[in-house]
Formats: sequence, C-alpha cells, structure tokens
Amino acid sequence: MTLDGYTSAQTRRRFLRTTVAAVAGATLCDVEKLLAAPPFVRMDVGGMTATTSALVSYGKAIDAMKLLPATNPLSWAYQAAIHGTTMGGPPQPAWNTCEHGTLEFLSWHRMYLYWFERIIRKQSGDPNFALPFWNYESAAERYLPPPFRTSGTGLYVADVNRGNGWNAGTSFLLSTTVSTTGCMPQLPFNSFSSNLEGTPHNVVHIAFGSTGGWMGSISTAAQDPIFYLHHCNIDRLWNAWLAQGGGRSDPLSDATWKTKKFLFFDENGKQVWMTGCDILRAQEQLGYTYEGEPTQVKQYCPIKLRPPWWHGIYEVLGPWPPIKLPPGPDPAPFELDVRSLRERLLKIAAERNTDIVIQLTDVMAERQPNVYWEVYVGLPKDEPAAAESRFYVGNLAIFGAGVQGEGHGTARSAQFELRLNDAVRAALSSRDQGSLSLRFVARGAGMKEQSEIRNNTMVSVGKATIAVRRLQKARTP
Ligand code: C2O
Repeated sequence: MTLDGYTSAQTRRRFLRTTVAAVAGATLCDVEKLLAAPPFVRMDVGGMTATTSALVSYGKAIDAMKLLPATNPLSWAYQAAIHGTTMGGPPQPAWNTCEHGTLEFLSWHRMYLYWFERIIRKQSGDPNFALPFWNYESAAERYLPPPFRTSGTGLYVADVNRGNGWNAGTSFLLSTTVSTTGCMPQLPFNSFSSNLEGTPHNVVHIAFGSTGGWMGSISTAAQDPIFYLHHCNIDRLWNAWLAQGGGRSDPLSDATWKTKKFLFFDENGKQVWMTGCDILRAQEQLGYTYEGEPTQVKQYCPIKLRPPWWHGIYEVLGPWPPIKLPPGPDPAPFELDVRSLRERLLKIAAERNTDIVIQLTDVMAERQPNVYWEVYVGLPKDEPAAAESRFYVGNLAIFGAGVQGEGHGTARSAQFELRLNDAVRAALSSRDQGSLSLRFVARGAGMKEQSEIRNNTMVSVGKATIAVRRLQKARTP
C-alpha cells in the first residue's frame, strides 16, 4: 500500500477503513464516534500512573499476546522477533528486520511502532489506545517509569532481563545519555538521524545493557515493554527536529529511502508492506500526534519542485593514530599533532555553516558493548572528565550496527561524527598547544550506590580523523 499523494477525501476513506479494522466488532455507532474524535495522541508516560488507561490497556494486551504461540504474528514473541531475535527454529517472515546504522533507522521504527500500536489496540480491546512516550530528557523522568516496575503486570520484566536497579529505582539515565543537544541542531537529515541514533537512542539501550537488561542488545530489546516507549520518544524527536525548519527535510532525494518496502503485520495478522513515502506525515497518514508537540511538518513524496535541502561537503585534515578500546579500564588519551593545523582550525571554528568534526569510522566491536563512551577532545591531562566541560563532544555508542554477529547476518561497521567547534576553541586558543588529545570514558547506567563500570569487549576504531564539514544547500534534481 502506498498512501502518499492521496487527496484528503481519500485519506478520510483510508482512515475510515483503518479505524473500522481497528475496532472490528464495535458497533457502527462506536465507529462514528471514533471518526469524530481527533487523532490518537501519544502521551508522555511521566504524567501517568499504573491506573492510567493507556498503561492498563498496554499491560492487558501484552498478557494476551504472551498466550499466543511464537509463530503467530500477533504474539508478543513474534512482534519482538520482528525487531530481532535469537529464537531457534525456522525463521518467520519479517523476523530480524530492524534497521540500524542506515538511513532507514527512523522510518523503519516508525512503521514498526505504527503496526505494533494497532495490534495492542485490538488485543487490549481499548479503541482509544495510543502508545505513551518516555520523555527521559526531562529531569523528572530519568528512572524507569514506576508502572513498569510492579510485578504481576504485563509491563513488568524481572531484574534478570531488565537489568539491576531499574525495578528497584536505583538505576537511572545519566544526563549524557538523554541529551539531544548533539542531534537537534543538525541540518542534513543523515547527520541528524545518525546523531540521534547514537544519542539518545543507542545510549539509552546501552544504559540498560550495562546492568544486564534485554534492552541492551538488538536481538532481545523489543521483549521489554519499555522499548516501545523509548522508540516513541525517538519518533517524536524526529517530528520535533523537522519542526525547527531552517531547511531541515526528510531524505526525499533518496530513492531507496522512499521506495524500499518493509514487511509488517496488521492487527488481524495479515501481511502489510510499507515504504518511506507512507509514513512522512504522522498525523495525516498514520493518524497520531504527540502530546505537546509543535504542528507537524508535512512533507510529500510526489512533488517535483522541493525547497533546497542541506548536505555536507567534507575536507579531511588529519588522522589520529589507530584506536583500540580494549576490555577493562579506559585507555590512555590518544594524541593528534596539530602544530601545523592550529591556525587553520581556529579560523574554521569561527566560520558560518562550518563545523570541525571528528569522524570515527569502521568501528567494530567483538560483541555488544555493555558501555558507551563519553568522548573528550582537548581535555587537559589534569582535568577530570566532566560532561559539563567544553571538551566533552558527545558519545561513542555502539548498538547493533558495528557489532560482530548482530547485523542480521552482515557485520556492518558503524560510524560516528561529533562536532568539535567549542572543544577546539577551548583547547587551542588559550595556550600554545601542539596536540589535541582524544579521550574515551566508559559509562553505563547511573547508580545510586556508586559502582565502577568497565568495558566488556574489544572495540576497534578503523579511523579517527579530524575533518571540516561545510554545509551547502542542494536542490533535488
Ligand atoms: Cu531497533 Cu532501539 O532499536
């Protein structure tokens, strides 16, 4: 099904069909009431309690889905396996199809949530159900939402699979885990998407992984009901990014992004295929909004003339020596000789629409790391690594992509790009510094009782280079 380009009458008809299907069994009168209602609103879980209907319905649906066999597309196990699974036996349609480290990261997960939400709506018998989102960037929501911590409900996962301290309320998300300051200012879609995928997306997963939770690996993550609230937040941030304007746009010049078909199941267990063009406008095409979000930006696939969009032109300045992050304590800082670059770097750091970035490419981990790394550039030797400092440039967070054996069969390496303008200014302007240090500090979940966290696997960074990124506006041919 391709929904884009429908007139509003067609959209309404589609909505009617969708809604009728969603409440199969409801009386016509109920359906009419639904049609008069505004779209589904995905609400902030921070305002909810265990008796809020969205959470009651969610738990009820999960219980019902757990009773179905894993071969039934509507079962809890099957839905999670669409994301990723280690289940043996013959692989079923759509299993292990999540997109990570690709341009389709956001679009695939939006589709996945959409069909999952419809299944929950039907399984719960609650025609008003909409998934909540976990707004962890709010300082009040750094702990696992309390309704997910009560045993005996569908929302609960035992410590052994959720990780230590989340149910007890002693583990929490660090401020560097939930930050969107790296991704939101980005102008090109690919820079935004990959930054957001890293932080907060990957890092939130890893925070659970650091304590032993299912959420810490792509092949188990979607078994935890909190997964879908995490992803609603990521999906909401996509809308929020677009709403900032300034030339931000979905990658409508990318044919694969627009037309690649992904397989899911509707609430009746029937196969459905979707493309990027089907999910551009959440409210209009999929019938939902997020609580408190700005007016959604409407983008369209079949339009000839589009406003120009941003893309980056790169110039590589120099490589750091090879980088390995071995298991155990943090490695010593890596030094880049910048004597010949110093003047230029300072000049570039002050230019408009220009960024100095560090590119970490060909990143491979031997297995899913239990930590992420805060990255510091130019941090003086005697200064402690504090995320508030100007030398903190973002995170290296490997989840799925870049992990051997976790790329759904293909071992695809990961890459990261972090903006260095402030750090370079801070490091090079004050004194006559001949080198730039690059330091990695392992982090996991925050813990009430301080315990040290250590990397559990070998990570190699194929290349770490300092580069200049100049943003230009291009027009879609
Ligand atoms: Cu496909 Cu957050 O994972």
